[in-house]
Amino acid sequence: MNKTITVIPGDGIGQEVVAGAVNVLEIVEKKFHHQFHFTNALAGGSALDAVGVPLPEETLKSCRASDAVLLGAVGGPKWDNNPPHLKPEQALLGLRKNLGLYANIRPAKIYSALINASTLKREIIEGADIVVVRELTGGIYFGTPRGIGTKNGEQSATNTLTYSESEVRRIAKSAFDIARKRRKKVCSVDKANILETSQLWRKTIVDAAKEYPDISLSHMYVDNCAMQLIRNPRQFDVIVTENMFGDILSDEAAMLTGSIGMLASASLGGTVALYEPVHGSAPDIAGQNKANPIATIASVAMMLRFSFDLQHEADAIEAAIEKVLDNGFRTSDIATEGNALVGTKEMTEKICAAILS
Ligand code: IPM
Ligand code: MG
Repeated sequence: MNKTITVIPGDGIGQEVVAGAVNVLEIVEKKFHHQFHFTNALAGGSALDAVGVPLPEETLKSCRASDAVLLGAVGGPKWDNNPPHLKPEQALLGLRKNLGLYANIRPAKIYSALINASTLKREIIEGADIVVVRELTGGIYFGTPRGIGTKNGEQSATNTLTYSESEVRRIAKSAFDIARKRRKKVCSVDKANILETSQLWRKTIVDAAKEYPDISLSHMYVDNCAMQLIRNPRQFDVIVTENMFGDILSDEAAMLTGSIGMLASASLGGTVALYEPVHGSAPDIAGQNKANPIATIASVAMMLRFSFDLQHEADAIEAAIEKVLDNGFRTSDIATEGNALVGTKEMTEKICAAILS
């Protein structure tokens, strides 16, 4: 197989974890006789520094010409005081919107070796296996009008939450399709007791479910879901929810796994998909060989699975991650007593060796 991948390391630890994930892809190339062509592109703070905008047209062009996109993370204190349109985060929103990536898939799976790294008790999280399907190109992140102005002699700010039926219908289908390959349970999360957008959301989800009689659908208010995720995470299979609820709940789901450094994601829906770790650029540990590369390496496994249909190769990466964890190797974010503490590079090397073994 011959594929072109746009690689956007971004900022902070993005550089290190993406380097690790590219190493893993090179090992997969070698072992399974594929050819991956990597094109590097700029986004976020590093793009601001180099060319003055967070998302250069060049980068979008490269993504559109690729078979998949791998992204590290964007952001950092250096750009925190930039005006809104010149913040690194705009690169992420721009990529999602311009590439039409409306379906964000965030699996939170508990690795048995990591149960002790979670802040929750073993009996609560053992066996938990959840996929959060987050709507990614609509809702309050993108609604207009928005902005900061003056009203009645004081500052006043506005954001707008809008969803159309078609936006809800397509993300519902994504969630149902994913659930079909799993335990066939979808929990739709909303705030339908208060918000009209949620009322339309719920009605549309119920309607879309008619085409999926094999799926068992339930509904939950977002506040209750936040509680249920830590009370009894095993009750969930697929959670489908709108953009901002999904942002919050996926971070919460990530902590079940012990560290946000473990959580991979895929953003689908357009002609090219984007894969990235759920964590951010972690400027406090950037450049110190401390970051956990597993989320990005697991994102690459998702790329092989979803974009290239290389199931066997994806399995090999996931099995290698599991094996290295079983052997006791840990980056500092997931370390508990008795583990062998390793850095980003060493963790990557262990996973590469496990793929080849
Ligand atoms: C995420 C992040 C982004 C989001 C930020 C960095 C714009 O938190 O991918 O979850 O809010 O979507
Ligand atoms: Mg987030």
